[in-house]
This record gives sequence, C-alpha cells and structure tokens, in this order.
Amino acid sequence: MKEYNVGLIGAGFMARAHSIAYAGMPMFFWPAPGIPVKSIIADLTEESAKDAAIRFGFSRSTSDWHKVIEDDGVDIVDICTPNNMHQEMAVAAAQAGKHIFCEKPIARNAEEAKVMLDAVKKAGVKNMLAFNYRRTPAIALAKKYIEEGSIGRILNFRGTYLQDWSADPNSPLSWRFQKSIAGSGTLGDIGTHVIDIARYLVGEFDEVFASLKTYITERPVQTGAIDKLGTVKGTSDVPKAPVDVDDEASFMIRFKNGAFGSIEATRNGWGRNNFITLEIHGEKGSIYFNYERRDELQVYFADDPGDRRGFRTVYTGPAHPYGEGLWPIPALGIGYTETKIIECYDFFKAIAENAETSPNFEDGYHIALICDAIVASSASDRWQKTNCV
Ligand SMILES: NC(=O)c1ccc[n+]([C@@H]2O[C@H](COP(=O)([O-])OP(=O)(O)OC[C@H]3O[C@@H](n4cnc5c(N)ncnc54)[C@H](O)[C@@H]3O)[C@@H](O)[C@H]2O)c1
Repeated sequence: MKEYNVGLIGAGFMARAHSIAYAGMPMFFWPAPGIPVKSIIADLTEESAKDAAIRFGFSRSTSDWHKVIEDDGVDIVDICTPNNMHQEMAVAAAQAGKHIFCEKPIARNAEEAKVMLDAVKKAGVKNMLAFNYRRTPAIALAKKYIEEGSIGRILNFRGTYLQDWSADPNSPLSWRFQKSIAGSGTLGDIGTHVIDIARYLVGEFDEVFASLKTYITERPVQTGAIDKLGTVKGTSDVPKAPVDVDDEASFMIRFKNGAFGSIEATRNGWGRNNFITLEIHGEKGSIYFNYERRDELQVYFADDPGDRRGFRTVYTGPAHPYGEGLWPIPALGIGYTETKIIECYDFFKAIAENAETSPNFEDGYHIALICDAIVASSASDRWQKTNCV
C-alpha cells in the first residue's frame, strides 16, 4: 500500500483535526487508498513546531514553512494557517509539484484565489479545500435524495450557521477579526461552509443580495499566535483595537437553475454553538438538517398518502454514504472528527485513482467570487452578479 508523506503548515486548531484524520483514516477505511505518513510540521517558532510534532505525531518540525515545501520527500502539503498565507504557500507548493490540501476559505478574496487556481492548473497537482461539513453522512445522504429526484426540482434553500463563541465583546481580537489576515469575518469563516453546501446540493449562484454587519466594533488585543476562539476573555483594562470585519452576514441567493435561497451566518447568536441548518424545498418534498443533531436527516415526501404525510427521521449508519467505513450501527454518533476523516479518505482516493477532487480550488475560487459579490452587494445595497461561470 502506497505511503504518502504529509507536510503540514500551521500547528493550531485545524492541525489537530487533520492530524487525527491522518491517523484515523486507515482505521476507518480499509483497504485505505493510501497511508498518510506524518512527516514534517511547521509553525511560527521552533518551540511550538516541536511541541506540535510530538503532540500530533510528526517525525520532524521546523519554524520555516519553506522547508516543508522544499522537502523532496513530501508528497502532500497541508495548509492549516490563517487565510492570509494560503496563496503564497499554495503557489509555492504547486510550483514544487506537491498535492495540496488547503483549509477554507481558499484565500482572502477572489483575486488571490484565482492565482492559486492558475498555479495548481499549471502544475497539474491535486488540490482540495477542507469544507468538511458537506462530508457529514446526513448531508451526503441529502445529496443522494436530490440526485435521485426524490424531492423533485428544488425551489428553495434556507441555510444558517449560527455561533456564539465571540458574542461576548471581551472575546479577544484574534486573527479572525482582522481583515488583513482573515479577508472577511463571519462570511469567510463560517458563511463559506454553507455556501459550499448550497452549491453542492442546489447548484451555482447567479446573484446575491446581502447585508453585512459589525455589531462589536472593538475587542481586547490578543497576545500569542494561537486563536483561542473566545475561550480566553480579556478584561476591561486590556487595550482594545478595532474589528474591521463583519460579525453577521445575511444574504439572499438567486441560483442559476432558478431556485431561490437565503443564508444567515452570525457569531452573535447566544445559545447557538455550531448551529448549521439546512431546509430545502422541492416540488415533491422537503429535506431538513441540523448539525447539532448530525446523525439525523429529516425528509418529507409529498406523494406519501395524505394520512401518512409528515417528516420522517433517517438515522445515518452503515447503509448510508461512507457507512461502509464508519461505525457498524446507526446513531453511534458522527462527530466533527469523522467529517475530517472522510475528507482525508476522499482526498487520498482522488490522488490514488487520479480522479477529480471536490471541492477543489475551482470551487474555492467560485466561493470567493460569491463572497466578493456579497461584500459588493452589502456596500451598494443592490443585487450583485457573482460572475461564476
Ligand atoms: N474546516 C473547518 O471547520 C475550519 C475550522 C477552523 C478553522 N479553519 C480554517 O483553518 C485555517 C487555520 O485556522 P485555525 O483555527 O487552525 O487557526 P489557529 O490560529 O488555531 O492556528 C493557525 C496556526 O498557524 C500558525 N501560523 C501562522 N502563520 C504561520 C506561518 N507563516 N508559518 C507557519 N505557521 C504559521 C500559527 O502559529 C498557528 O499555530 C484557517 O484558514 C481557518 O479558516 C477551518
């Protein structure tokens, strides 16, 4: 079985999730499409990189990310740094002929995303973006229902991604609140996951009408590189600095196939932790999903007899997408980790079979075009074409 050496850049939250996935993928999916070998990890300092190598199981560490890319033994470069570094790292990795697994959003804007797309196309390397929520088996099952025509032509998509980890104004000003690093706020960080799912399930966006808001306009300055996602609170005597990105993004969508949609993303939704919901109405039925009950998909079929109509709940398990590799009994519980393991499996499968990856940098570029159109629509207060072709 072929081994693939992984070089991972950025040793924070996502490095942990990806490292678990590399270890777990062959344990779930066997025979595995390839064996990930955790070869080298980079972070900002020698100390944090070394610490991460021990913790996450990498053989070597470095404080210079270029060393990961220059390493002849590395087959896959995995980019888990904040968004401002994605373009430079991905272009360098493509030029070095490495396959690239990159965290979302692809970059800070469509201009950067296009440079990345051109680089991977020119180099002919595999490229995938880590929009892992679409790998939740219940969402993959929704895709199956839709493709089989079970709910007919789709008329409407409603999506939400509501969080509260930074609803407290004393949550620190991490990189996620700085435009120069993140590109945008809630929109790029969590809104893009729902945009990815909407494109996956419904289709391409034609135009958007958006409102972006920043309710919390300054936050305590954070010290240290790692974003604690609001768990380390500042106090009133800590110096504050301005927030220059949105903390709420709401937008309506006209899809190219005629469907209509809306998405709301906020980090100010007290009581909502990772509240990703989808409701899809078709001519013959409806589908509902809530990530906080992620083993369940609710489906409604209009051609059920009148006295039997109602949403039914399907618990995902061995009979459903990815079920052959996951737990042997329905409702044992799908977690965030499983979505990352499935993502890793799909990426390695695409490399081993020389097949197309999804979502790839082309999808990431389109999502970046959509985000740019959302920003432009909010500024102009008008519908804005996405320019996705
Ligand atoms: N798919 C998801 O569900 C999901 C969830 C969270 C974050 N993300 C994405 O993952 C990426 C990373 O987010 P995170 O939450 O892991 O951030 P994080 O702040 O926890 O970790 C980022 C790490 O990158 C390191 N770093 C920064 N610049 C570097 C450089 N030049 N060289 C080497 N290391 C560098 C930092 O020291 C830190 O360890 C972002 O693009 C983010 O949008 C995706």
